Amino acid sequence: MKLLITGATGLVGKELVKRALNQGMEIHFLTTQQSKLNSIVGAKGFYWNPSLQEIDSACFEGVSTIVHLAGATISKRWTTSYKKTILSSRVDSTQILLVGLKTLSEGHSVTQLVSASAIGVYPSDFDQTVEENMPLSPSSFMEQVVTDWEQQSDSFSTMGIKVTKLRIGLVLAADGGVVATLKIPTMFGLGAAFGNGKQGQSWIHITDLVSLFLFAIEKQWEGVFNAVTPNPVSQSRFITALAKALHRPHIFPPLPKFLIQLLVGEMSSLVLDSHWVSSKKLVEHGFSFEFPNINDAFENIFHKKE
Ligand SMILES: NC(=O)c1ccc[n+]([C@@H]2O[C@H](COP(=O)([O-])OP(=O)(O)OC[C@H]3O[C@@H](n4cnc5c(N)ncnc54)[C@H](OP(=O)(O)O)[C@@H]3O)[C@@H](O)[C@H]2O)c1
Repeated sequence: MKLLITGATGLVGKELVKRALNQGMEIHFLTTQQSKLNSIVGAKGFYWNPSLQEIDSACFEGVSTIVHLAGATISKRWTTSYKKTILSSRVDSTQILLVGLKTLSEGHSVTQLVSASAIGVYPSDFDQTVEENMPLSPSSFMEQVVTDWEQQSDSFSTMGIKVTKLRIGLVLAADGGVVATLKIPTMFGLGAAFGNGKQGQSWIHITDLVSLFLFAIEKQWEGVFNAVTPNPVSQSRFITALAKALHRPHIFPPLPKFLIQLLVGEMSSLVLDSHWVSSKKLVEHGFSFEFPNINDAFENIFHKKE
């Protein structure tokens, strides 16, 4: 089986490539950086520039599944111009993949698109647990981005291609993402929650997330699935578990909401919003988690024996 992976050089992509190669899959990947074309041993790189509608169409050769992970980081200040980059790096990149396939004169062999999506598609809610079938009416920037991204992914079905969308929660990994950001203050005993600390944090260990991508491909899933553990926690509990795993005290009270809003503006929603997200559908579809609990997940991340 041959996969074409976008965003293969990122946090999730690197781990997915490693596991897929170990399983004997062939990997093509698309990168926006010419310097990364030969950066993954065992995989073949191709150049694209979604903002200029450029794609090397040789990337599709022999591919059965496209895994679409590309997207500009959301952890950079949300200026008006950067908000456009966040949106276009997801929506335009999805569109250029589709256009690229459509323009292949010799046809293509793609049967499935598995696209990253995000739990930011759901409105912030401190009480309700949300499932995939919740009707959406986007009212924040992030809800709108993810809704547009999913709609663009859906257009692959017009070509008879199965579309799988994984609404990913906070990814826990040793080498980046939220853990890398929070680890440094926590190491100095300065870890603290934000706002009232009661926000729901729906997370997933990177090992489980990669297993999920591979499972969705193996089982040829179609539709939308929440990619989160069955045990979301409050933000206070999340920070406490992180401090415990790092053997550091956790004494600081939550940082006040107004201060975060003052410091980072609209982007404060990333730490102040609450998402209690259900993984029931994953479990009903036969997926099982290696790290369902937060303490075990952090323990593995910080103290795993190679
Ligand atoms: N990590 C999380 O907690 C989390 C949570 C929810 C959803 N997600 C989603 O899951 C996907 C993968 O996440 P990740 O953490 O692995 O992301 P990441 O580490 O930031 O990597 C994303 C990749 O996207 C590519 N990229 C960056 N800017 C781009 C642009 N302007 N246009 C096209 N491609 C661009 C880069 O690859 P090249 O430099 O090779 O082009 C980069 O390696 C993302 O779409 C993210 O939104 C992640």
